[in-house]
Amino acid sequence: MGAGIAQVAAQHEHDTVVYDLDENVLSKAKGRLQQTMEKLVAKGKFSEDAATNIQNRILWTSDLTDCKEAGIVIEAIVENLDIKQKVFKQLEAIVSKECILASNTSSLSLTSIASACDLDTRVIGVHFFNPAPIMKLVEVVPALQTDPSLVEKTKKIIDSWGKITVIAKDTPGFIVNKVARPFYSEAIKMLEEGVANENEIDTVLTQKGGFRMGPFTLTDLIGHDVNYKVTETVWKSFYCDPRYKPSFTQKRLVEANWLGRKTGHGFYTYPIEINETSLVSIAEDTQDEILNRVLFMLINEAADTLFLNIASAADIDKAMKFGVNYPKGPLEWADEIGIKNCVEYLDDLYEHFGDDRYRCSSLLRKMGTNNKTFF
Ligand SMILES: NC(=O)c1ccc[n+]([C@@H]2O[C@H](COP(=O)([O-])OP(=O)(O)OC[C@H]3O[C@@H](n4cnc5c(N)ncnc54)[C@H](O)[C@@H]3O)[C@@H](O)[C@H]2O)c1
Repeated sequence: MGAGIAQVAAQHEHDTVVYDLDENVLSKAKGRLQQTMEKLVAKGKFSEDAATNIQNRILWTSDLTDCKEAGIVIEAIVENLDIKQKVFKQLEAIVSKECILASNTSSLSLTSIASACDLDTRVIGVHFFNPAPIMKLVEVVPALQTDPSLVEKTKKIIDSWGKITVIAKDTPGFIVNKVARPFYSEAIKMLEEGVANENEIDTVLTQKGGFRMGPFTLTDLIGHDVNYKVTETVWKSFYCDPRYKPSFTQKRLVEANWLGRKTGHGFYTYPIEINETSLVSIAEDTQDEILNRVLFMLINEAADTLFLNIASAADIDKAMKFGVNYPKGPLEWADEIGIKNCVEYLDDLYEHFGDDRYRCSSLLRKMGTNNKTFF
């Protein structure tokens, strides 16, 4: 991930330093960047000279003091709070007081990372999506201690790299990893209940819902170790709110080391024979149940994210469109469907299952009563 972020910075004419403890990782990443650049030159995206310049702008090093001239450091090391705090402390002794200290963490609190620093006001989250050179979205996440003026300053830098930035509060999963939870969990729950099989659920969500990939194909691609960990972290961080409860089904996949594409086995077995089935072979009411349960739960999560002031309505929708390629923002979708209809469907689910995970966001309910829309 760090190498991808460095590529983006170097493409935008920054002298860039990539630091890693492990020399092997550095030389592999350098080799991978060279291959990427060769491909981009062959495709006509860069001239030979531009590609050479980009690579020459990057210094690959295992000596942290090489970062001393940095204006911004984007930390993308292992997802471990103690290690991140240690490295931030080391950095403080090396860089200037003006240097921004940013972290690409997906799941740790920026506030706790900042708490390790003397000058905690210059610590901020910049959460890229993988692969960083391709995915447009970056979530900018101020810690509790962050100087408010740093938010705009950081946003400006990342925007100048051709990215789309949104601002999120320092809460578990920020925007995307929180709002997207039901896309996976509701699909897995329907599989467990026997509503439909993996293929059928994937088919409905892609062909009828317009999602680029179905949840089973997508989690197989992300890796169940990674996806399960994010779900578990978000669930624990929200004090075990049943809305985010992880599933045994996915846990078993992790235990079996059936991590998806990378191990050749996940929900599907690879190489895959038929990825999707035909929509017409799935009963209409099953199609409706699959799409509605996922969609209304996504809308509910997005509404609650707005209710908790984690981000603005526009940023929530932007984040879902550019961070996970949703065909529409969930709030824009809610406006189209009608907020009252969303509330009714969620209330039906709540009544049917008697499970708190289906409780309707109070914002959605209030908006439904007052005939309001998000946009
Ligand atoms: N992979 C993703 O899809 C993704 C997406 C968004 C954010 N992130 C975040 O980016 C960070 C890195 O993720 P990744 O998937 O690239 O992990 P990774 O395990 O592939 O890379 C982490 C690197 O950190 C290095 N490292 C470990 N300890 C170090 C230390 N003390 N000093 C210097 N280097 C050290 C390791 O050698 C390794 O190369 C994490 O915080 C993760 O949450 C990852």
